[in-house]
Amino acid sequence: MTDSIDIAVIPVAGHGTRLLPATKSQPKEMLSVGRKPVVQYVVEELAHSGIRRMLFVTSRGKHSIESHFDIDESLTHYLRSTGREELLADLAFERESIEYFYTRQRRQLGLGHAVLCAESLIRDQPFVVALGDSIIGVHAQSDIVERMKRLFCREQVDAVVAFEEVPEEEVYRYGIAQPKDGEGDVFELADVIEKPPISEAPSRLAVAARYVFSPRIFAMLHATPPGKGGEIQLTDAIRLLIRRGHRCLGVRLGPHEPRFDIGNFESYFQTFVDFALADPQYGTALREYLATKLSSGDSRASRSPTDSE
Ligand code: G1P
Repeated sequence: MTDSIDIAVIPVAGHGTRLLPATKSQPKEMLSVGRKPVVQYVVEELAHSGIRRMLFVTSRGKHSIESHFDIDESLTHYLRSTGREELLADLAFERESIEYFYTRQRRQLGLGHAVLCAESLIRDQPFVVALGDSIIGVHAQSDIVERMKRLFCREQVDAVVAFEEVPEEEVYRYGIAQPKDGEGDVFELADVIEKPPISEAPSRLAVAARYVFSPRIFAMLHATPPGKGGEIQLTDAIRLLIRRGHRCLGVRLGPHEPRFDIGNFESYFQTFVDFALADPQYGTALREYLATKLSSGDSRASRSPTDSE
């Protein structure tokens, strides 16, 4: 039954302004975290949870995402003819039996609007939404989407949303849950509020970049006026689903599956370090390097370039 949910919408249309200048001419979803670009982890996580059709909602300047998932026969041939077959394993992801689709968000009207851009391709099937700038679990080792799909099918609801607990001072950055009763691993949503000030936040449970929806979400998105930042918010459409009496569930990410947000430099740097430390080949040496560097009080590690001499 859960196999019937095999399509994911992956919004990747945002400008990535918080990562300038790195994102001036390349999408933030193509920044490397350890060995792979962010979006490859997202696709691998989804494939692991039975998603076979990836529908990217792109925008201007995002072509390298499409190229990344192409089968590059000339590169394969080059590696073979130069005796470097061992590198072919790094390109194995190209040959996974996954179909890729791309549509453009032609105007930047927000995340809700980006999902709406997929409507005529999704039509009447349930689907996953996975934000293309967030990785779940170190090296994307997470089956959160599989668990959400199972719950969605078993409980016959209209939405299942992933949540993670965040510190108080960060709630203003996220969609925040108001659970109906209790904040267990799975809970029913009484409401969800996009980026509230802490004084108005009903919990510290933040929307964590993964969703499963019935196609009913499209009608809600059509009825959703611009919200925070003047944009059509996906969170507001979920809110409308709940207000119209449709059941929506929340699922917490497990302790083994933190969300890594590649939307700003602070968390991008931390994510890179975590993934590099977990690298099977270079992780141990990097750990030793960092330990030595930090314990020696190396000025290059402990001072920012803007510190005065
Ligand atoms: C979006 C959503 C927000 C969610 C966040 C992380 O915000 O609007 O509800 O909590 O992703 O999944 P953004 O980070 O695009 O501003």
